[in-house]
Amino acid sequence: MKHYQIGVIGGDGIGPEVATEGLKALEAIAEIDGFRVDLVDYPYGGEHYMQTGELVPESAIDEWRELDAVFLGAIGHPDVETGLIERAVILGLRFGLDLYINLRPVKLYAEHLCPLKDKAPADIDFTVVRENTEGIYAQIGGILKKGTPDEVATVTGVFTRKGIDRTIRHAFEVARARAAARNDGSPARLTMVDKANAIRPQDIWTRAFAEVGAEYPDVEQDHAYVDACCMWMVKNPEWFDTIVTTNLFGDIITDLGAMIQGGMGIAASGNIHPGKHGMFEPIHGSAPKYTGKNVANPLGAIAAVGMMLDFLGEARAAARVDSTIASLLASRQIPSVDARSGLSTAQIGAMVVESIRRDA
Ligand code: IPM
Ligand code: MN
Repeated sequence: MKHYQIGVIGGDGIGPEVATEGLKALEAIAEIDGFRVDLVDYPYGGEHYMQTGELVPESAIDEWRELDAVFLGAIGHPDVETGLIERAVILGLRFGLDLYINLRPVKLYAEHLCPLKDKAPADIDFTVVRENTEGIYAQIGGILKKGTPDEVATVTGVFTRKGIDRTIRHAFEVARARAAARNDGSPARLTMVDKANAIRPQDIWTRAFAEVGAEYPDVEQDHAYVDACCMWMVKNPEWFDTIVTTNLFGDIITDLGAMIQGGMGIAASGNIHPGKHGMFEPIHGSAPKYTGKNVANPLGAIAAVGMMLDFLGEARAAARVDSTIASLLASRQIPSVDARSGLSTAQIGAMVVESIRRDA
């Protein structure tokens, strides 16, 4: 029997609650599809930091490298310095395991969830491939003369040709895989999003896209500046199939993407070093105000489990998660993807498990 070792970081706020429901879905699927899952729990997050002063030890990163994947609930605590825990845990994983791809599907499961007029599930179904270890996130910079009238802050965006090439190449593979899965004769399509008109050094992305793109003549290749991309995502989201972009732009446009698919409560992401390591998480934060209230919607975490299954090579299991979410939302058994669905976190988790079992 196949056997996976999964690290679990429940994290802060609603993180542990939504992660629990994600893991219930995972256990149910493991039983159906005949594999075993061993969970290894990690306590890192704001609460742990306040109690122990520990962020993330090097030894944990070494352990995560040996696991099949890591599953994360949410990170961020209102009583801890801004971003400290997020940088330690989320960026710690991304940089520590060189998870250079951040995969973020933008998929509308049911028309009534969409805030855009006259857009249906067929119009909103694309994937953003976000570069995940470079750009302005590389942490090069600092502050001089802090707190004085002469204060200066600098931050340098880092774009390496190696880092860009591997990201773009993976995005082409994603575009091809999506076209193959559609199996309707429509061609693979990849749009590169940058701001090379104003930020001239981003021309390295333009050239890399053209050169790597020459290896993929079967894939339609397109380009949009990030500002225009935001406009098209609202006006004509049906134009997009696969998008590849920089770290910061990917961060920004995927929050917009989450909104057009119904809200942060449904959006999931995979931080991946293809063929090696993966960390999967809902893209929403720790939502401190909902902590312990059993109202957070766990669908983002459950969708992240689906992405993790796909990464592990359990494609059938991943498809089960996706179709279950789609049918529960389309039928309005789960009426919304926010905290006001009228259903508790645990109820939604139980509905997902029941539906997975019933359709197996
Ligand atoms: C995300 C988050 C993170 C990011 C933060 C928490 C560091 O917003 O995963 O999108 O900016 O990448
Ligand atoms: Mn973000």
